[in-house]
Amino acid sequence: MWVRTCALLYSLLVLVSSLPATEASHRIIFPNLQSVEVEPENVDDTLRSGFHFQPPKHWINDPNGVMYYKGVYHLFYQYNPEAAVWGNIVWAHAVSRDLVNWVMLDPAIYPTAPFDENGCWSGSATVLPDGTPAIMYTGIDADGQQVQNVAYPRDASDPYLREWVKPSYNPVIAPDAGVNATAFRDPTTAWRGPDGVWRLVVGTKDNHRGIAALYRSRDFQRWAPAPRRALHSGDTGMWECPDFYPVVTSHGVGGGGGVKVKHVLKVSLDLKRYEYYTFGEYDHAADAYVPDAALADGDDGLRYDYGNFYASKTFLDTARHRRVLWGWTNESDSAADDVRKGWVGVQAIPRKVWLAPDGKQLMQWPVAEIESLRGNHVNVTDKLVRGGGGGNYFEVSGLATPAQVDVEATFQVMDLDKAEPFDPAWRGADAQAVCAARGADARGGVGPFGLWVLASDELKERTAVFFSVFKRDDADVARVGGGKKHVVLMCNDPSRSSYAEQLYKPTYAGFVDVDIAPTGKISLRTLIDHSVVESFGGHGKTAILARVYPTKAVGDKARLFVFNNGESDVKVTNLNAYDMGSAKITTDA
Ligand code: FRU
Repeated sequence: MWVRTCALLYSLLVLVSSLPATEASHRIIFPNLQSVEVEPENVDDTLRSGFHFQPPKHWINDPNGVMYYKGVYHLFYQYNPEAAVWGNIVWAHAVSRDLVNWVMLDPAIYPTAPFDENGCWSGSATVLPDGTPAIMYTGIDADGQQVQNVAYPRDASDPYLREWVKPSYNPVIAPDAGVNATAFRDPTTAWRGPDGVWRLVVGTKDNHRGIAALYRSRDFQRWAPAPRRALHSGDTGMWECPDFYPVVTSHGVGGGGGVKVKHVLKVSLDLKRYEYYTFGEYDHAADAYVPDAALADGDDGLRYDYGNFYASKTFLDTARHRRVLWGWTNESDSAADDVRKGWVGVQAIPRKVWLAPDGKQLMQWPVAEIESLRGNHVNVTDKLVRGGGGGNYFEVSGLATPAQVDVEATFQVMDLDKAEPFDPAWRGADAQAVCAARGADARGGVGPFGLWVLASDELKERTAVFFSVFKRDDADVARVGGGKKHVVLMCNDPSRSSYAEQLYKPTYAGFVDVDIAPTGKISLRTLIDHSVVESFGGHGKTAILARVYPTKAVGDKARLFVFNNGESDVKVTNLNAYDMGSAKITTDA
């Protein structure tokens, strides 16, 4: 019966995939599947995550309205309550006291009125000065226009904030003649300037120019565009899900003393399906944002994550004095397989985010609470993996749940002189192009070395998370400054991750801005969760999240290895791998 249903769904997919796309990034190409309910017994849970958040079934995308309120963390997210493809979008809602275990509540915001009858799209929460939270979200109105609406809790004394009320004066921001009404969405958390006026940013575009449009209000109800509407813009297509927030440098950027504030602007590039950020000076009085001149300001800019990570959003966690980042990771499987599995999309592990002490980039690290799921632990100390380019490796054995693991490792390159020159032709190229040219199986000077995760018995299925180190020439050392003589590249190579054919298996990569010369050491942390491989290099300088779909390396059949394909020996000075328990995801009693 289920096989027949799959066959039917598959032919529907083929049939509908030639339909015209809409303006929005989530193309309505599966209208016939948008409301095909998945029965719980038909959910294929083989590759479902154990400790990354996902609902029991159906489609999810962006995190929305994330906040901390009365001792409770709130995660709302874009959700199709009816099927495993995008459509019928509502704000689903889950709450947690630790960002690890979740209680699923009823959807909080769903179409009810002309100002959102065609969908409740992404938005953000703002905790107002009296402590009441407000949600701003994009409604798709009766005419298909994108408008911004406000919603308030029916009962602010309920820490779960179960019910939300939309005032009848919505929408509070409608697109005027100067704005593209079908590309006008995803309001940020609002902030209040020293003048007492509220501000928020909405993502939009003017032809190919992505824009962070600034709006202002005295009462959170009547909003108007700022005199200079574009807080910032870029020639990179539609800007979705902007985020704008302050970061504090405890000693002043560059060590000049005193506390300084920088503002971060992150945007999600609809065309490229990845995000980039800048940070710089925000002048409240002039409502002007100027990114630091040293930063790339475009699709070659800095990224939270160089993998499959999109539509992210931060919030200020006042309980623990940190900023926390949520991001969505889509499947990279075929839509037919998504439908067959009955679930689509996972949220990345919430990450603490802060400005690096050198003021050059943001740093990220999984929130500490996730370590509460760590169980049995395997340690490796001072183990040499010989070089010689021979493809040496060893297994990290003794794990009970090898498909659900948190690994922290420090590698030490024993002979940095073996690093090959960084090809000047790669200088303008992004890391991904370099890594695609020199994948995990290349024989290099220093590296590739790192982990094979989710590996099958005969090692034919394996996902490589690894580093390669190259030497800069003198001109490049001078150009880069800081005396860094090496380029450290971090990659995720999924080309052997699955026997399944027709999967999208992109190589992901980023440079790690560390000076490896003094110690030869580089660190890697990888959260392995069945189909999620989420890695942090250089103590949080570079992150890469990848989705993979092993067929044999599943459950307790998965294995973990350390490998070295370089000429130089590499020592694992310390490696700790922890079996991870599963997050408790329960429904509201
Ligand atoms: C980003 C996005 C947002 C939009 C939402 C719709 O993934 O396209 O711009 O509000 O998803 O679900």
